[in-house]
Amino acid sequence: MSNKKRILTGIRPTGKLHLGHYFGAVRNWVKLQNEYQSFFEIADVQGLTDNFNNPEKIRNNVKEVTIDLLSLGIDPKISTIFIQSTIPEIAELTVFYSNLVTMSRLYRNPTVKTEIKQKKELFGNSGESVTYGFVGYPVSQAADITAFEGSLVPVGEDQLPLIEQTREIVHKFNSIYGETLTIPEPLLTSTPRIKGLDGNEKMGKSLGNAIYLSDGEKEIEKKVMGAITDPSKIKKDDPANPEICMVYYYHKLLENQNLKTVCEECKQGKRGCVACKKELIQVMMEFLKPIQEKRHYYEEHLEEVDQILKNGSENAKKVAEEVIKRVKENMQINYFK
Ligand code: TRP
Ligand code: SF4
Repeated sequence: MSNKKRILTGIRPTGKLHLGHYFGAVRNWVKLQNEYQSFFEIADVQGLTDNFNNPEKIRNNVKEVTIDLLSLGIDPKISTIFIQSTIPEIAELTVFYSNLVTMSRLYRNPTVKTEIKQKKELFGNSGESVTYGFVGYPVSQAADITAFEGSLVPVGEDQLPLIEQTREIVHKFNSIYGETLTIPEPLLTSTPRIKGLDGNEKMGKSLGNAIYLSDGEKEIEKKVMGAITDPSKIKKDDPANPEICMVYYYHKLLENQNLKTVCEECKQGKRGCVACKKELIQVMMEFLKPIQEKRHYYEEHLEEVDQILKNGSENAKKVAEEVIKRVKENMQINYFK
């Protein structure tokens, strides 16, 4: 393997990918794979922490997410795409690390804290919905990162507390058992969160405002036609402010060649919102076309997708085996040659 620095990042297979995933993360991963040795983990075990009672959902989405990643330009010839559960070393490391972190530290983890709060809002205050596995998932994520000696972890801001948690675990491990593990650094994406067409600060499946890479014209039409525009614009020829319009935000995001005209015509009251939305539908369909062509190819060649995941998992396992060997030696639990 090359001696380029390694990046490791993960994605939970809980749904198909949408434009928020692309502009917020995957676009950056596609660039990074040329500079770094890249490992992309389909985090099925982590996905199950929230969906243990819905295994079909995770299973189906492992394939969907892989197809999405391939269609967006993750290149299996230079990058490794693998499934978390195929690497038992991650589960072993999780158990070893669980001694190095206190319960109160996990409960104080801002990401975990927010997610527990959301669960309580959903299920009431009984606390019954919060499982051991859920509270412990940052430990498992530390195992994800260190099992592959990921030195850089491309993530969004919401994941920073998880990387910090990993760094603490690694420090503690190395100070007790000797220098063994690589200390990872987060690699923040410069793109801010992608807003929804409904004006929400975030595009998300649970928010019902996501535009999926696999959406057809009908779905796109429905979503774009319902988008929030400048509320002061009532009539077609009222001048408006594109900066507070979600349709304009998407014209910009998708780099419409005609952007200047859209902006000027809107300000001058020379453009109706319906026509403006119709133009956006066209721009979006154009943008999605090559992605959907690739998607279609992989849907017709599922055996190729399987092979990519199989090769990736074998490749990843080799690295994890080296790491676990060192870990066990240093923890003095390597009994036989
Ligand atoms: N927790 C991440 C998310 O929900 C996914 C993830 C799993 C991950 N393992 C990882 C991210 C390792 C970075 C590194 O988005
Ligand atoms: Fe938004 Fe276009 Fe309407 Fe202006 S004309 S408010 S940019 S949809």
